[in-house]
Amino acid sequence: MNILFEPAKIKNMELRNRFVRSATYDACAQSSGQVSDAQIKLFADLASGGGGLIVTGITYVHRSGQNLPFQNSIAGDDFIPGLKRLTAAVHDRGAKIAVQLFHAGRERARFLEDKNKQAMAPSFVYDDPYFTAEYRTMTEEEIWNIVQAFGKAARRAREADFDAVQVHGAHAFLFSQFLSPFTNHRNDDWGGALENRLHFHHEVYRNIRENVGDDYPILIKIGVQDGFARGLELGEGKVAARLLAQWGFDALEISQGLRGKPYAETEYRTKINRLNQEAYFRQWCTEIKNAVSVPVMMVGGLRTFELMEEIIQNKEADFISLCRPFIREPGIVNHWKRGDRHRAKCISCNKCLEAAREGEALHCVQQKFEDKRQT
Ligand SMILES: Cc1cc2nc3c(=O)[nH]c(=O)nc-3n(C[C@H](O)[C@H](O)[C@H](O)COP(=O)(O)O)c2cc1C
Repeated sequence: MNILFEPAKIKNMELRNRFVRSATYDACAQSSGQVSDAQIKLFADLASGGGGLIVTGITYVHRSGQNLPFQNSIAGDDFIPGLKRLTAAVHDRGAKIAVQLFHAGRERARFLEDKNKQAMAPSFVYDDPYFTAEYRTMTEEEIWNIVQAFGKAARRAREADFDAVQVHGAHAFLFSQFLSPFTNHRNDDWGGALENRLHFHHEVYRNIRENVGDDYPILIKIGVQDGFARGLELGEGKVAARLLAQWGFDALEISQGLRGKPYAETEYRTKINRLNQEAYFRQWCTEIKNAVSVPVMMVGGLRTFELMEEIIQNKEADFISLCRPFIREPGIVNHWKRGDRHRAKCISCNKCLEAAREGEALHCVQQKFEDKRQT
């Protein structure tokens, strides 16, 4: 059997193969944050498509962490029945599902209409070229409230039959804002040296573990370097990844931290036309895989089957995580399994992302364009 189709485990969660659908905001939730029928269909199609693990899109654990209009919530018990429908749709088709637990931090500012409900962040950064919207520094009490919100959300996730939770510790959001020296200027226990900038991660981990018990998989997507100079650097990112694994996180997905301005300084890079432009976090991921003993997922621009095979064979990662290829081809893993090893058709144009941010339900814009030309 091809190594990509060999089953593997994360803690006690058994996955049928090495393919993960990386977390993807789908702009399909109801505006209340409840699961919609469109999402049941989307996730059923993904599960039928053959992947091992599906990670949901950003799901806010507390109202103060929402940053987009059609985003799922897990901030109250009333969300459990809808989430149960989602997990059942995936389980009926043989895949596993993790919910991505999320808080936007200052990124909520772009979404707020009401200035009185100001967005929160570890600290306010003066003259920040990357972020100009209004927000304020969190109090210690607010930090503890959010820590507890993550724990409660994880308890709900388990009740809703998710197989695991994944903490969103990457990209532009709250955990990266704590970890990066660029956005964390606190001089209390939550800022300063690396261990202090990771204090939030540690308390969230402990609170989740208390709520879900020892046997439940807790994953994290971690940004190990920021997309611009003077931010988090890989040296610290690697130490952070090692600490997270030591504390008990059961798997790490390796991505970037804060975003710079062009797409080239983000987690979703464009212009992936040649093999050597694929797997753009390969080096970071491989270094971290060599430094930890928990399973590691590689994400970022993977498009060619044989490259993915080489990565798993070389033990540069344990899982291959894909986002944009599944938007265009939800059934791509089954194609590959049947022996049709075509390169993913996704051209990484990011039109899907731009449309979702405008509130359009997730779809491949390029495919729509091509279909139109053919008719
Ligand atoms: C439309 C879209 C939505 C995304 N939503 C999320 C999300 O909810 N959470 C997350 O961690 N990353 C999100 N990402 C980033 C992806 O999970 C992934 O890290 C990135 O796109 C690189 O992988 P790829 O080249 O396979 O697309 C999103 C990316 C896109 C294009």
